[in-house]
Amino acid sequence: MSTPPRVLSGIQPTAGSFQLGNYLGAVRNWVALQEGNDAYYMVVDLHAITVEQDPAELRDNIRLAYAQIIAAGVDPSTSTLFVQSHVPEHAQLGWVMQCITGFGEASRMTQFKDKSARNGSDHASVGLFTYPILQVADILVYQADGVPVGEDQRQHVELTRDLAQRFNNRYGPTFTVPKALIVKETAKIFDLQDPTAKMSKSMPHGAVFLLDDPEVITKRIKSAVTDSETEVRFDPESKPGVSNLLTILATLTDRDVHTVVTDYDGKGYGALKSDTADAVVEFAEPFAARVRELMSDPAELHRLMTEGSAKAREVASHTLATAYDRLGLIAAGG
Ligand code: AMP
Ligand code: TRP
Repeated sequence: MSTPPRVLSGIQPTAGSFQLGNYLGAVRNWVALQEGNDAYYMVVDLHAITVEQDPAELRDNIRLAYAQIIAAGVDPSTSTLFVQSHVPEHAQLGWVMQCITGFGEASRMTQFKDKSARNGSDHASVGLFTYPILQVADILVYQADGVPVGEDQRQHVELTRDLAQRFNNRYGPTFTVPKALIVKETAKIFDLQDPTAKMSKSMPHGAVFLLDDPEVITKRIKSAVTDSETEVRFDPESKPGVSNLLTILATLTDRDVHTVVTDYDGKGYGALKSDTADAVVEFAEPFAARVRELMSDPAELHRLMTEGSAKAREVASHTLATAYDRLGLIAAGG
């Protein structure tokens, strides 16, 4: 029997609740990919500290992110589910990867440009600048074949491919060159208030937070910006708001967007918004209940994290040792 492909992805423990774009763009696909793949998923706490975090909030948010991944459907007994900082090899391989990255190459990462512009570039940390290179190490240390993410991460996976190839060319075949696994339909869920922008935790007014109360979720969706026409049509170019709602509704009800459109023949935007709100609440309510249940047993959550990181380290330590050896570093005693 051949070994199944390996997939790996991560999510930041920021803002407490996941937003709908995290789920539809990424985590939903993580759940699907558990079947037929050797799956590694993690809470990337070391990425979160590239911007200042309150320690008490960060601690809660790491547990909350871990619980949300399980509540979304990732099974920690099937997948390896862990916390990034529990596996020191990420930071160690991260250093190696920094040493083969060009300064100009790192400067071209658009997420850094966006994030540093938002925080004022004088306040951007060096960690925020090298953030994508730690992500490269996250992926390569597991020899991942596929990386399920939203469209905004494509450039980071491209960098991962470039650095894997560079290392392999210089030091001999060491790393698997991974591919981004991006679901076209849900690659970018848009902000409800500005449907030309990506839905993001950092723009809370246009985002749907899955742990919010159903009334809050419903209100958010019902106040989504649409357009001055009345016809429900899927046309992302000229009707971004309506098309975004259609994508959300179609995905959550497992239908094709064009099938959904036919339901709204002769109906207005009100019906579409109301049905979309219902579909989101139908997912979010049991999701939040499961998160509360998991959070009520911190010892069990911690046990799962410990088990996950032990499994992850088996792979990560092996890859790091090989990479160090290829570079010409000498193994310590023992
Ligand atoms: P983050 O919250 O930045 O750690 O993102 C976690 C995952 O969610 C990444 O794979 C992102 O690409 C994905 N993601 C975040 N926002 C969106 C969005 N609006 N649409 C689709 N995917 C998203
Ligand atoms: N940078 C990703 C994000 O902001 C999170 C991330 C960190 C990640 N390491 C990763 C995603 C490794 C995929 C693989 O969403």
